[in-house]
Amino acid sequence: MSSSETFQISLEAAEVYESRFVPGIFAEWAPLVIEAAKIRRGDAVLDVACGTGIVARIAAEQVGSDGVVVGTHVNESMLAVARRVRPDLEWHRGDVADLPFPSEAFDAVLCQMSLMFFPDRLRALAEMARVTTTDGTVAAVVPAGIGDQPAYGLLVDVVTNEAGPEAASLMEAYWSCGDLDELSGWFTAAGLRVVSRRTHLGTARFGSVEELVATEVEGAPLIDRIDDETYRRIRESARTALRPFVGAGGAVAAPLRGHILVAKPI
Ligand SMILES: C[S@@+](CC[C@H](N)C(=O)[O-])C[C@H]1O[C@@H](n2cnc3c(N)ncnc32)[C@H](O)[C@@H]1O
Repeated sequence: MSSSETFQISLEAAEVYESRFVPGIFAEWAPLVIEAAKIRRGDAVLDVACGTGIVARIAAEQVGSDGVVVGTHVNESMLAVARRVRPDLEWHRGDVADLPFPSEAFDAVLCQMSLMFFPDRLRALAEMARVTTTDGTVAAVVPAGIGDQPAYGLLVDVVTNEAGPEAASLMEAYWSCGDLDELSGWFTAAGLRVVSRRTHLGTARFGSVEELVATEVEGAPLIDRIDDETYRRIRESARTALRPFVGAGGAVAAPLRGHILVAKPI
């Protein structure tokens, strides 16, 4: 199955992504990546794997009416939501392995919380470098490694205990770009010189532990490999393990560390 097919989701799932996951997790990171990339008025900006377009929307405020903002994604449902929310911006279907844009078309190319899902990260970064002007900027955000994620680390422990290490490994994709040196090495190999890198401590917010568990388990191939009883035990153990992160009314505030890298074409 190609990466484009793997990531096709329904319009309903894309609306859930926009209403729940964007405010709960991703909205916090968008201004940080835009600030790191030093986007100016009039810039042409590409948001790669834009999802429902949170980064593109905030970049649009920054570039103003003289600038151009384009979002690209493999999934039509995500793009349909992006178009509904901001019909005035440009949205294109496209796989990051073969971006549908000419070389040196953008002053800034941004990629938020997606690189870890790309089957060929080097090719993706090389494509981002290709579409960036020679003095332009590529900026990416990825989650740090699981060892630096206190709440998510506990959830992985729960899954390991209840479903075994092989099942827990199915949740690995999210944390797979966590090694900052390895990540910087991929940028270099793709023809990009890293000019800044930092780690930010953010917060993922969910209405309940159940909601957090559902996001991580049902959003990963894990859900197809466990039976109902195992999933029930995971939810029960997670309620206990994640109690330190639960506040008033059962809402969860889970620390989420991410790396922000800024690079220039070599
Ligand atoms: C966690 S979402 C982040 C989306 C968006 N950047 C945001 O901040 O809301 C990761 C996205 O990467 C996308 N993705 C995975 N493989 C891809 C590929 N080969 N090309 C483009 N997008 C891909 C998935 O569809 C998914 O929506």
